[in-house]
Amino acid sequence: MPHDFMPGLAGVPAATSSISDVDGQQGVLEYRGIRVEELCAQSSFLETSYLLLFGRLPAASQLEQWTSDISHHRRVKFRIVDLLKCLPEHGHPMDALQAAVAALGMFYPGRQVKDAETNYWSAVRLIAKLPTIVAAWARLRHGDDPIPPQDDLEFSENFLYMLTERRPHPLWKEIFDDCLILHAEHTMNASTFTGLVTASTLADPYTVVASSIGALKGPLHGGANEEVVQMLREIASPDHAQAYVEQQLAARRKLMGFGHRVYKVKDPRATVLQRLCERLFQECGPSPLYTIALEVERTAGESLNGKGIYPNVDFYSGIIYDKMGIDVNLFTPLFAMARVSGWLAHWLEQLQENKLFRPDQIYSGEHNRPYVPLAQR
Ligand code: CMC
Repeated sequence: MPHDFMPGLAGVPAATSSISDVDGQQGVLEYRGIRVEELCAQSSFLETSYLLLFGRLPAASQLEQWTSDISHHRRVKFRIVDLLKCLPEHGHPMDALQAAVAALGMFYPGRQVKDAETNYWSAVRLIAKLPTIVAAWARLRHGDDPIPPQDDLEFSENFLYMLTERRPHPLWKEIFDDCLILHAEHTMNASTFTGLVTASTLADPYTVVASSIGALKGPLHGGANEEVVQMLREIASPDHAQAYVEQQLAARRKLMGFGHRVYKVKDPRATVLQRLCERLFQECGPSPLYTIALEVERTAGESLNGKGIYPNVDFYSGIIYDKMGIDVNLFTPLFAMARVSGWLAHWLEQLQENKLFRPDQIYSGEHNRPYVPLAQR
């Protein structure tokens, strides 16, 4: 049956899903019907993961079990650490994460994707181990030993602890947890779609997540958060923001951290992240990058808002991580640590009524060409 070709599959539904929804005109994002602002105010990242995966908020005993299962699966095998040690220290952390996640699948039973219990433990392991891998790589590449996870620390607190061997400021763990909630899921984006295509072949979930990590890395998707901080550093002062923005737009270059395929107003996650920036900087001192960002948002808005282009989730997140002393090229791995919950929720949903993704194409090449022997070309 012929269809219109939609570049980038813009507006083409790839699945029916009850996991999350975006209203791009009103700037609303809901996970299982609950707005992200409410989840940031009242929930935790782990509770939100449960909500995404299983479709409902957990009862107290379920949350306790889920938290305990995650806490007890944070450790990674020494062979995974050895694998990380073999990678070049200047390599990108997303590549290290992708390699380690793919390798996890060699250690654990994940191939029986029709078995609900196996799938539960795969989800637990992936959510639990990604932060350990990210933190281990962050230390190994500087020649430091990885810090083992501590079972009694909450999810976000434990991650920040594994990076520095210090318990974080209480506000940091709260704000970091909110950042994870905001990045946990976002309907049918490029990395989720990539994961679904892999899932539809009935590959194991480690392979599904490794393929999603690959798609998330690109600068048009999760990689934009790194580029935003680099851009703000390059601008260096709020006084230079206007000239920088005008120059970029005159050269028809995109401003990183602006624009979205679905949102035509300010991304609600950017609004929450901006509030988190203000809380953090009030308590822990100002960030020069934030002052520059405000000026970029103001000046860029004059040209771009009329076209429905506003700051997206990547515009303010990196400024928070930068204040916490986290290296810029770890920002996208942090995104992956959160988004793994969404990827896994879509994986489980896909398995309920799986159909292999096998789209069509519109062939634009020639037919019936003769083979010309090498000597005659
Ligand atoms: N700066 C300046 N102009 C822009 C921007 C931007 N950031 N984004 C879109 N435009 C313009 C673009 O130049 C084009 O203009 P024209 O019609 O005159 O040629 C028009 O808007 C449509 O752009 P598009 O790239 O065809 O639209 P899209 O729906 O494919 O774009 C996007 C979505 C996210 C790829 C794009 O806005 C972009 O490249 N933004 C910068 C990268 C970024 O911040 N990515 C993070 C996205 S949100 C988090 C995530 O998904 O991971």
